[in-house]
Amino acid sequence: MKAPVRVAVTGAAGQIGYALLFRIAAGDMLGPDQPVILHLLEITPALPALQGVVMELNDCAFPTLAGVVATDDVNVAFKDVDYALLVGARPRGPGMERKDLLEANGAIFGPQGKALNDHAKRNVRVLVVGNPANTNALIAQQNAPDLDPKCFTAMVRLDHNRALSQLAEKTGAHTTDIRKVTIWGNHSSTQYPDLHETTVNGKPALEQVDQTWYADTFIPTVQQRGAAIIKARGASSAASAASAAIDHMRDWALGTAEGDWVSMGIPSDGSYGIEPGVIFGYPVTVKDGKYAIVQGLNINAFSQARIDATNKELREERAGVEHLFAK
Ligand code: NAD
Ligand code: LMR
Repeated sequence: MKAPVRVAVTGAAGQIGYALLFRIAAGDMLGPDQPVILHLLEITPALPALQGVVMELNDCAFPTLAGVVATDDVNVAFKDVDYALLVGARPRGPGMERKDLLEANGAIFGPQGKALNDHAKRNVRVLVVGNPANTNALIAQQNAPDLDPKCFTAMVRLDHNRALSQLAEKTGAHTTDIRKVTIWGNHSSTQYPDLHETTVNGKPALEQVDQTWYADTFIPTVQQRGAAIIKARGASSAASAASAAIDHMRDWALGTAEGDWVSMGIPSDGSYGIEPGVIFGYPVTVKDGKYAIVQGLNINAFSQARIDATNKELREERAGVEHLFAK
Protein backbone atom coordinates (compact mmCIF):
# COMPACT_ATOMS: atom_id res chain seq x y z
CA MET A 1 0.00 0.00 0.00
CA LYS A 2 1.16 3.54 -0.84
CA ALA A 3 0.97 6.48 1.60
CA PRO A 4 -2.59 7.88 1.79
CA VAL A 5 -3.64 10.88 -0.33
CA ARG A 6 -6.31 13.41 0.56
CA VAL A 7 -9.39 13.71 -1.67
CA ALA A 8 -11.90 16.53 -1.13
CA VAL A 9 -15.49 16.18 -2.33
CA THR A 10 -17.93 19.08 -2.01
CA GLY A 11 -21.69 18.59 -1.93
CA ALA A 12 -20.89 15.26 -0.32
CA ALA A 13 -24.42 14.64 0.98
CA GLY A 14 -26.01 15.26 -2.42
CA GLN A 15 -27.11 12.68 -4.95
CA ILE A 16 -23.84 12.64 -6.94
CA GLY A 17 -21.93 12.53 -3.66
CA TYR A 18 -23.79 9.38 -2.64
CA ALA A 19 -22.85 7.69 -5.92
CA LEU A 20 -19.26 8.94 -5.84
CA LEU A 21 -17.85 8.58 -2.34
CA PHE A 22 -18.17 4.82 -2.03
CA ARG A 23 -16.38 4.27 -5.34
CA ILE A 24 -13.52 6.61 -4.43
CA ALA A 25 -13.25 4.92 -1.02
CA ALA A 26 -13.26 1.49 -2.69
CA GLY A 27 -10.22 2.38 -4.83
CA ASP A 28 -12.00 2.82 -8.18
CA MET A 29 -10.47 6.26 -8.76
CA LEU A 30 -6.82 5.90 -7.75
CA GLY A 31 -6.34 2.15 -7.61
CA PRO A 32 -6.54 -0.68 -5.08
CA ASP A 33 -3.05 0.15 -3.71
CA GLN A 34 -3.78 3.83 -3.02
CA PRO A 35 -5.44 4.58 0.36
CA VAL A 36 -7.49 7.79 0.51
CA ILE A 37 -8.50 10.17 3.27
CA LEU A 38 -11.82 11.72 2.26
CA HIS A 39 -12.45 15.40 3.05
CA LEU A 40 -16.21 15.97 2.77
CA LEU A 41 -17.65 19.47 2.55
CA GLU A 42 -21.32 20.34 2.99
CA ILE A 43 -23.38 23.37 3.95
CA THR A 44 -24.28 23.46 7.67
CA PRO A 45 -27.92 22.27 7.35
CA ALA A 46 -26.74 19.16 5.49
CA LEU A 47 -24.20 18.09 8.16
CA PRO A 48 -26.58 15.60 9.88
CA ALA A 49 -27.24 13.88 6.54
CA LEU A 50 -23.49 13.91 5.87
CA GLN A 51 -22.89 12.19 9.21
CA GLY A 52 -25.16 9.38 8.01
CA VAL A 53 -23.05 9.03 4.86
CA VAL A 54 -19.89 8.91 6.98
CA MET A 55 -21.42 6.15 9.11
CA GLU A 56 -22.13 4.16 5.96
CA LEU A 57 -18.62 4.76 4.59
CA ASN A 58 -17.17 3.39 7.83
CA ASP A 59 -19.58 0.46 7.76
CA CYS A 60 -18.18 -0.61 4.37
CA ALA A 61 -14.79 -1.32 6.02
CA PHE A 62 -13.01 -0.50 2.75
CA PRO A 63 -9.31 -1.50 2.78
CA THR A 64 -8.43 1.71 0.90
CA LEU A 65 -10.30 4.15 3.16
CA ALA A 66 -7.73 5.65 5.55
CA GLY A 67 -9.89 8.34 7.18
CA VAL A 68 -12.80 10.75 6.79
CA VAL A 69 -13.02 14.46 7.60
CA ALA A 70 -16.57 15.87 7.45
CA THR A 71 -16.96 19.64 7.73
CA ASP A 72 -18.85 22.78 6.73
CA ASP A 73 -15.60 24.82 6.77
CA VAL A 74 -14.06 25.16 3.32
CA ASN A 75 -10.62 25.85 4.84
CA VAL A 76 -10.68 22.52 6.69
CA ALA A 77 -12.09 20.71 3.67
CA PHE A 78 -9.23 21.76 1.36
CA LYS A 79 -6.35 21.51 3.86
CA ASP A 80 -3.46 19.66 2.18
CA VAL A 81 -5.70 17.98 -0.40
CA ASP A 82 -4.17 16.26 -3.44
CA TYR A 83 -7.47 16.01 -5.33
CA ALA A 84 -10.63 18.12 -5.15
CA LEU A 85 -13.94 17.21 -6.79
CA LEU A 86 -16.17 20.28 -6.69
CA VAL A 87 -19.66 18.82 -6.97
CA GLY A 88 -21.69 20.89 -4.50
CA ALA A 89 -24.00 23.27 -6.33
CA ARG A 90 -27.64 23.61 -7.20
CA PRO A 91 -28.72 21.30 -10.06
CA ARG A 92 -30.99 22.57 -12.85
CA GLY A 93 -34.63 21.60 -13.10
CA PRO A 94 -36.85 21.02 -16.15
CA GLY A 95 -36.81 23.84 -18.71
CA MET A 96 -33.56 25.40 -17.43
CA GLU A 97 -30.26 25.64 -19.30
CA ARG A 98 -27.13 24.95 -17.24
CA LYS A 99 -26.01 28.56 -17.64
CA ASP A 100 -29.18 29.66 -15.79
CA LEU A 101 -27.29 28.45 -12.70
CA LEU A 102 -24.39 30.88 -13.17
CA GLU A 103 -25.55 33.43 -10.62
CA ALA A 104 -26.61 30.89 -7.96
CA ASN A 105 -23.56 28.69 -8.31
CA GLY A 106 -20.93 31.24 -9.37
CA ALA A 107 -20.84 32.59 -5.83
CA ILE A 108 -19.82 29.16 -4.47
CA PHE A 109 -16.75 28.72 -6.66
CA GLY A 110 -14.92 31.99 -5.92
CA PRO A 111 -14.49 31.26 -2.19
CA GLN A 112 -13.67 27.63 -2.94
CA GLY A 113 -10.97 28.69 -5.40
CA LYS A 114 -9.50 30.98 -2.74
CA ALA A 115 -9.55 28.22 -0.11
CA LEU A 116 -7.80 25.84 -2.53
CA ASN A 117 -5.25 28.57 -3.20
CA ASP A 118 -4.60 28.98 0.52
CA HIS A 119 -4.69 25.37 1.73
CA ALA A 120 -4.40 22.70 -0.98
CA LYS A 121 -1.22 20.94 -2.11
CA ARG A 122 0.54 22.95 -4.85
CA ASN A 123 -0.06 20.19 -7.40
CA VAL A 124 -3.73 19.68 -6.46
CA ARG A 125 -5.89 18.28 -9.26
CA VAL A 126 -9.28 20.00 -9.28
CA LEU A 127 -12.32 18.71 -11.18
CA VAL A 128 -15.43 20.90 -11.31
CA VAL A 129 -18.67 18.95 -11.75
CA GLY A 130 -21.18 21.53 -10.45
CA ASN A 131 -22.87 23.37 -13.32
CA PRO A 132 -22.19 25.35 -15.37
CA ALA A 133 -19.01 23.33 -14.91
CA ASN A 134 -16.61 25.02 -17.36
CA THR A 135 -17.28 28.54 -16.17
CA ASN A 136 -17.42 27.54 -12.49
CA ALA A 137 -13.95 26.01 -12.98
CA LEU A 138 -12.79 29.31 -14.48
CA ILE A 139 -14.17 31.23 -11.48
CA ALA A 140 -12.36 28.91 -9.04
CA GLN A 141 -9.13 29.14 -11.05
CA GLN A 142 -9.31 32.94 -11.19
CA ASN A 143 -9.52 33.03 -7.39
CA ALA A 144 -6.42 30.87 -6.96
CA PRO A 145 -3.56 33.02 -8.26
CA ASP A 146 -0.85 31.00 -6.49
CA LEU A 147 -1.82 27.69 -8.11
CA ASP A 148 -0.90 26.63 -11.64
CA PRO A 149 -3.96 27.45 -13.81
CA LYS A 150 -3.68 23.92 -15.24
CA CYS A 151 -4.71 22.52 -11.84
CA PHE A 152 -8.32 23.43 -12.72
CA THR A 153 -10.44 21.27 -15.02
CA ALA A 154 -14.13 20.80 -15.80
CA MET A 155 -16.06 17.63 -16.52
CA VAL A 156 -17.04 16.83 -20.10
CA ARG A 157 -16.33 13.14 -19.52
CA LEU A 158 -20.00 12.35 -19.01
CA ASP A 159 -20.67 13.72 -22.51
CA HIS A 160 -17.72 11.69 -23.81
CA ASN A 161 -19.13 8.51 -22.24
CA ARG A 162 -22.60 9.30 -23.58
CA ALA A 163 -21.10 9.62 -27.07
CA LEU A 164 -19.37 6.23 -26.68
CA SER A 165 -22.61 4.63 -25.59
CA GLN A 166 -24.72 6.11 -28.43
CA LEU A 167 -22.18 5.09 -31.05
CA ALA A 168 -21.79 1.59 -29.60
CA GLU A 169 -25.54 1.08 -29.67
CA LYS A 170 -25.81 2.29 -33.28
CA THR A 171 -22.95 0.17 -34.63
CA GLY A 172 -23.58 -2.95 -32.53
CA ALA A 173 -20.08 -2.63 -31.04
CA HIS A 174 -19.06 -2.35 -27.40
CA THR A 175 -17.85 0.96 -26.00
CA THR A 176 -14.41 -0.65 -25.54
CA ASP A 177 -14.17 -1.13 -29.34
CA ILE A 178 -14.31 2.66 -29.86
CA ARG A 179 -11.31 5.05 -29.92
CA LYS A 180 -10.78 8.78 -30.26
CA VAL A 181 -14.13 10.42 -29.54
CA THR A 182 -13.87 14.14 -28.75
CA ILE A 183 -16.18 16.49 -26.88
CA TRP A 184 -15.19 20.02 -27.86
CA GLY A 185 -16.13 23.03 -25.77
CA ASN A 186 -18.73 23.59 -23.12
CA HIS A 187 -20.64 21.05 -21.00
CA SER A 188 -23.84 22.54 -22.41
CA SER A 189 -26.13 22.11 -25.39
CA THR A 190 -23.50 23.85 -27.60
CA GLN A 191 -20.91 21.12 -26.96
CA TYR A 192 -19.65 19.43 -30.12
CA PRO A 193 -19.36 15.63 -29.98
CA ASP A 194 -16.93 14.94 -32.84
CA LEU A 195 -16.59 11.56 -34.57
CA HIS A 196 -14.26 12.61 -37.42
CA GLU A 197 -11.24 10.86 -35.88
CA THR A 198 -13.20 8.10 -34.20
CA THR A 199 -12.76 4.43 -35.02
CA VAL A 200 -15.01 1.47 -34.22
CA ASN A 201 -13.11 -1.82 -34.30
CA GLY A 202 -10.26 -0.02 -36.06
CA LYS A 203 -12.36 1.41 -38.92
CA PRO A 204 -13.55 5.02 -39.27
CA ALA A 205 -16.82 5.54 -37.40
CA LEU A 206 -18.19 7.93 -40.02
CA GLU A 207 -17.91 5.16 -42.65
CA GLN A 208 -20.14 2.95 -40.47
CA VAL A 209 -22.96 5.42 -39.80
CA ASP A 210 -24.60 7.81 -42.24
CA GLN A 211 -24.07 11.56 -42.09
CA THR A 212 -27.77 12.23 -41.40
CA TRP A 213 -27.71 10.05 -38.28
CA TYR A 214 -24.49 11.74 -37.17
CA ALA A 215 -25.72 15.32 -37.70
CA ASP A 216 -29.42 14.99 -36.86
CA THR A 217 -29.58 12.22 -34.25
CA PHE A 218 -26.21 11.55 -32.62
CA ILE A 219 -25.07 15.14 -32.01
CA PRO A 220 -28.38 16.43 -30.57
CA THR A 221 -28.89 13.26 -28.50
CA VAL A 222 -25.52 13.70 -26.79
CA GLN A 223 -26.03 17.46 -26.42
CA GLN A 224 -29.49 16.99 -24.85
CA ARG A 225 -28.86 13.85 -22.80
CA GLY A 226 -28.73 15.69 -19.47
CA ALA A 227 -32.15 17.25 -20.12
CA ALA A 228 -33.58 13.87 -21.22
CA ILE A 229 -32.46 12.32 -17.92
CA ILE A 230 -33.96 15.17 -15.89
CA LYS A 231 -37.26 14.64 -17.75
CA ALA A 232 -37.22 10.87 -17.20
CA ARG A 233 -35.96 10.75 -13.60
CA GLY A 234 -37.28 14.04 -12.29
CA ALA A 235 -33.70 14.65 -11.08
CA SER A 236 -30.42 15.21 -12.86
CA SER A 237 -27.99 12.41 -13.65
CA ALA A 238 -26.13 11.18 -10.60
CA ALA A 239 -24.58 7.70 -10.90
CA SER A 240 -23.39 8.33 -14.46
CA ALA A 241 -22.02 11.74 -13.45
CA ALA A 242 -20.16 10.16 -10.52
CA SER A 243 -18.78 7.45 -12.78
CA ALA A 244 -17.54 10.04 -15.28
CA ALA A 245 -15.86 11.99 -12.47
CA ILE A 246 -14.03 8.80 -11.43
CA ASP A 247 -12.95 8.23 -15.06
CA HIS A 248 -11.70 11.83 -15.42
CA MET A 249 -9.63 11.76 -12.22
CA ARG A 250 -8.32 8.21 -12.77
CA ASP A 251 -7.06 9.04 -16.25
CA TRP A 252 -5.54 12.33 -15.07
CA ALA A 253 -3.73 10.57 -12.22
CA LEU A 254 -2.81 7.28 -13.87
CA GLY A 255 -2.68 8.14 -17.61
CA THR A 256 -4.64 7.45 -20.80
CA ALA A 257 -4.42 4.28 -22.87
CA GLU A 258 -1.95 4.05 -25.76
CA GLY A 259 -3.65 4.84 -29.09
CA ASP A 260 -6.62 6.61 -27.54
CA TRP A 261 -7.54 9.90 -25.94
CA VAL A 262 -10.19 11.29 -23.58
CA SER A 263 -12.09 14.59 -23.39
CA MET A 264 -11.32 17.00 -20.57
CA GLY A 265 -12.38 20.60 -19.96
CA ILE A 266 -9.03 22.36 -19.53
CA PRO A 267 -7.70 25.92 -19.78
CA SER A 268 -7.30 26.79 -23.46
CA ASP A 269 -3.80 27.67 -24.61
CA GLY A 270 -5.22 28.94 -27.91
CA SER A 271 -4.97 25.54 -29.64
CA TYR A 272 -7.45 25.15 -32.52
CA GLY A 273 -8.16 28.88 -32.44
CA ILE A 274 -10.00 28.75 -29.11
CA GLU A 275 -10.09 31.82 -26.89
CA PRO A 276 -7.07 31.47 -24.57
CA GLY A 277 -7.97 30.98 -20.92
CA VAL A 278 -11.54 29.66 -21.17
CA ILE A 279 -12.04 26.13 -19.85
CA PHE A 280 -12.67 24.21 -23.06
CA GLY A 281 -13.36 20.55 -23.82
CA TYR A 282 -10.40 19.19 -25.80
CA PRO A 283 -9.07 15.78 -26.81
CA VAL A 284 -6.22 15.07 -24.40
CA THR A 285 -3.71 12.39 -23.57
CA VAL A 286 -2.18 12.07 -20.10
CA LYS A 287 1.33 10.87 -19.29
CA ASP A 288 3.14 11.06 -15.93
CA GLY A 289 0.17 12.93 -14.44
CA LYS A 290 0.23 15.75 -17.04
CA TYR A 291 -2.41 16.28 -19.70
CA ALA A 292 -1.61 17.49 -23.22
CA ILE A 293 -3.96 18.59 -25.99
CA VAL A 294 -3.90 16.32 -29.04
CA GLN A 295 -2.45 18.53 -31.79
CA GLY A 296 -2.60 18.50 -35.58
CA LEU A 297 -6.17 17.28 -36.14
CA ASN A 298 -7.86 18.38 -39.36
CA ILE A 299 -10.95 20.44 -38.64
CA ASN A 300 -13.39 20.64 -41.58
CA ALA A 301 -16.04 23.32 -42.09
CA PHE A 302 -18.77 21.21 -40.40
CA SER A 303 -16.65 20.87 -37.26
CA GLN A 304 -15.32 24.43 -37.33
CA ALA A 305 -18.82 25.94 -37.26
CA ARG A 306 -19.71 23.87 -34.20
CA ILE A 307 -16.43 24.55 -32.39
CA ASP A 308 -16.93 28.27 -33.06
CA ALA A 309 -20.44 28.17 -31.54
CA THR A 310 -19.34 26.58 -28.26
CA ASN A 311 -16.25 28.84 -28.10
CA LYS A 312 -18.58 31.86 -28.47
CA GLU A 313 -20.83 30.63 -25.66
CA LEU A 314 -17.87 30.17 -23.31
CA ARG A 315 -16.56 33.66 -24.09
CA GLU A 316 -20.02 35.06 -23.28
CA GLU A 317 -20.24 33.08 -20.02
CA ARG A 318 -16.80 34.39 -19.03
CA ALA A 319 -17.85 37.98 -19.75
CA GLY A 320 -20.82 37.47 -17.42
CA VAL A 321 -18.75 36.33 -14.41
CA GLU A 322 -15.62 38.48 -14.60
CA HIS A 323 -16.82 40.43 -11.56
CA LEU A 324 -16.29 37.21 -9.54
CA PHE A 325 -12.57 36.97 -10.42
CA ALA A 326 -10.00 38.00 -7.79
CA LYS A 327 -8.44 41.34 -8.71
P1 NAD B 1 -27.79 17.76 -5.12
O1 NAD B 1 -28.68 18.93 -4.93
O2 NAD B 1 -28.32 16.39 -4.91
O3 NAD B 1 -26.50 17.90 -4.21
C1 NAD B 1 -25.77 19.06 -4.14
C2 NAD B 1 -25.21 19.15 -2.74
O4 NAD B 1 -24.35 20.27 -2.69
C3 NAD B 1 -26.28 19.35 -1.68
O5 NAD B 1 -26.16 18.35 -0.67
C4 NAD B 1 -25.97 20.75 -1.12
O6 NAD B 1 -26.25 20.86 0.28
C5 NAD B 1 -24.49 20.86 -1.42
N1 NAD B 1 -23.99 22.24 -1.49
C6 NAD B 1 -24.62 23.35 -1.94
N2 NAD B 1 -23.83 24.42 -1.80
C7 NAD B 1 -22.67 23.98 -1.28
C8 NAD B 1 -21.47 24.62 -0.89
N3 NAD B 1 -21.29 25.94 -1.03
N4 NAD B 1 -20.48 23.86 -0.37
C9 NAD B 1 -20.63 22.53 -0.22
N5 NAD B 1 -21.76 21.86 -0.54
C10 NAD B 1 -22.76 22.59 -1.08
O7 NAD B 1 -27.17 17.93 -6.60
P2 NAD B 1 -26.41 16.83 -7.48
O8 NAD B 1 -27.43 16.12 -8.30
O9 NAD B 1 -25.49 16.05 -6.63
O10 NAD B 1 -25.64 17.77 -8.52
C11 NAD B 1 -24.58 18.60 -8.11
C12 NAD B 1 -24.12 19.47 -9.27
O11 NAD B 1 -23.56 18.67 -10.31
C13 NAD B 1 -25.23 20.27 -9.96
O12 NAD B 1 -24.70 21.55 -10.29
C14 NAD B 1 -25.49 19.50 -11.22
O13 NAD B 1 -26.06 20.30 -12.23
C15 NAD B 1 -24.09 19.09 -11.57
N6 NAD B 1 -23.93 18.00 -12.54
C16 NAD B 1 -22.90 18.12 -13.45
C17 NAD B 1 -22.68 17.12 -14.36
C18 NAD B 1 -21.56 17.25 -15.38
O14 NAD B 1 -21.50 16.41 -16.28
N7 NAD B 1 -20.66 18.22 -15.31
C19 NAD B 1 -23.48 15.99 -14.35
C20 NAD B 1 -24.51 15.89 -13.42
C21 NAD B 1 -24.72 16.91 -12.51
C1 LMR C 1 -25.96 16.28 -17.05
O1 LMR C 1 -25.40 16.49 -18.12
O2 LMR C 1 -26.62 15.25 -16.81
C2 LMR C 1 -25.81 17.29 -15.94
O3 LMR C 1 -25.03 18.37 -16.36
C3 LMR C 1 -27.09 17.72 -15.36
C4 LMR C 1 -27.83 18.65 -16.28
O4 LMR C 1 -28.27 19.72 -15.82
O5 LMR C 1 -27.98 18.32 -17.45
